[in-house]
Amino acid sequence: MPSKRFQHSSASSSDDDRPSPRKRARRRSSSGPSGSDSGTEGKVLGIYIVQAKLDSATINELYRLVDEHAPKSGSESSLQLELCSDVKDAQVIITAIRMRRRFERHVDWDIAKLKAIVTPEWLIESAKAGRPLPCGDFAALSELEEETIHNCPDHQEGCDCGKSNPSIQSPLNASPSVRPTDPSVFQNWRARYAVQRASPLVCPNQGLANELSILRRARELEGLEKNALAYERAIGMIKSYPHRITRESFKSDISKLPGFGGKTASKVLEYIETGSIPEAQTTLTSERYQSLSLFASIYGIGPTKARQFYDMGMRSIEDLERYYDVAPGATLKTPAELDEFMREMEAEVAFTPNGKRVRREGTVPDITVPVALALRGELDAPIPRDEVEEMRDVVMRELAELQPGCVSTIVGGYRRGKPMSNDADIVISHEDWEKGKTLIPGLCKRLCARLYQKGLVTHVMHLSGFHGYNALRTEHWDSLEKALTVFKLKPIPENPVRIHRRLDLIFALPESYWTAVIGWTGSKMFQRDLRLWAKQEKGMKFDSVALTRRHDTRRFLPKSEKEVFDILGLPWIDPTMRNADA
Ligand code: UTP
Ligand code: MN
Repeated sequence: MPSKRFQHSSASSSDDDRPSPRKRARRRSSSGPSGSDSGTEGKVLGIYIVQAKLDSATINELYRLVDEHAPKSGSESSLQLELCSDVKDAQVIITAIRMRRRFERHVDWDIAKLKAIVTPEWLIESAKAGRPLPCGDFAALSELEEETIHNCPDHQEGCDCGKSNPSIQSPLNASPSVRPTDPSVFQNWRARYAVQRASPLVCPNQGLANELSILRRARELEGLEKNALAYERAIGMIKSYPHRITRESFKSDISKLPGFGGKTASKVLEYIETGSIPEAQTTLTSERYQSLSLFASIYGIGPTKARQFYDMGMRSIEDLERYYDVAPGATLKTPAELDEFMREMEAEVAFTPNGKRVRREGTVPDITVPVALALRGELDAPIPRDEVEEMRDVVMRELAELQPGCVSTIVGGYRRGKPMSNDADIVISHEDWEKGKTLIPGLCKRLCARLYQKGLVTHVMHLSGFHGYNALRTEHWDSLEKALTVFKLKPIPENPVRIHRRLDLIFALPESYWTAVIGWTGSKMFQRDLRLWAKQEKGMKFDSVALTRRHDTRRFLPKSEKEVFDILGLPWIDPTMRNADA
């Protein structure tokens, strides 16, 4: 019996009656991660889901279908499914990707050839039919259609789940950007640091992670950083756990993980029993939580300020509008009305009451809380991937006019595979390692000015990371140049209405490029643990600027993202598996 089946409470083999929990626990410990027993073998299909290009509703639905068809003792169902955390163990791979190049970023091609690779419809239709349908009709990759037909469960019986075969090692891809996550990582869900584990965008216990995330946010809003961090860590562990958590697997697996003592444990158990966490639900409906999270969602207002406002008796957006003296209802305006409104606001704040100009003409206005408040409706709208790409293209075209030879990577949630992002984050450097050292400093400010003149950037939020370039300190020029901006694409016939978006630009010297790319790819928990891992396990210091050895302050100069992982002694983890936050 494949080991990966041990998560299912009813994972029994030849027993006709359900084994007692004790009996199950014994079976579990005796069979171990690579143990095997038999019985339903031959019927259970190992399923691996490639999340890229799937929206979270579909991912959840696919997980639900797999779960619904989990092997049950005595079941005669001809569709018995099991989620595999390692693609090597699966027989069927479900993906919405249709191109080899893209697919190879997630699954090694040599492994892919041994599997049936189908679209999500295969699972949906098979579930309806109650049996595995012919895979050829649902082949996702035309290049592997033959293999898909041949490897289809209606051709070949038996599930490989749990019998991971070490001889099928994935030969590493030549190009680092298409390197799939190191297969060993998927077995590492017990590991302490998020950087040792695989954390998909949507995990089999996403509902639980979301509930815990409400508690985490509530603690954060209350200024209880330590408590918030404890939840963040627990969420991170859950994100990497490859099976649905049941009462049994909670006891055998989860409760043994670091951070699942007392309080957190009781919350997880509540979720297992009822499908929600009562405290999270009451939190969501509480006036205090609603007001605090509303206030803190405005750029420039943090938890402390949000609490101060609440203590002053403020509760709603209208209260904020009154406080900041913004015309009420600004957030209800159409994009065109909003532009007009912004111009008026600009004119108003451009001069002090005694007529002195506040800002030099031509310089990019700072975003203030009133502006953020007025733009709230637009800045809250999530950005689809193609628009993020369009933003990058426009920015890089303008940058090329100022300075040829610049390179960029879209980082943040986009790079981790999120279908929708709250902002766009772009790390920029120069292709020439030597020349970049002098070409990059100062470029961020120049680009912002240009984007402002072109009407693309409307406001900047943060220029403090902007260290003036100091020739005497070249050796120690140790900061990134950041511009956190409000950006608006120009209308085009296909897209006549554009709205304001948040755009973060991060300029790094070539030697800082890969650490910046990793740092800004996130997720926050992943990055936090990368620092911690470096410090505690490797005696090194990692941040977005540099990777240094502590005892002699030797600085490493990584030439690729993979090299950073290598230096830190970490297995490669693809960005799409760095979603360690809920
Ligand atoms: P974001 O806040 O943009 O989050 O930070 P996100 O993961 O892209 O998700 P969205 O935007 O809400 O969709 C991106 C990453 O950049 C790093 C953090 O590690 C974060 O994961 N970051 C952010 C920094 O290093 N420094 C900062 O000042 C801000
Ligand atoms: Mn982002």
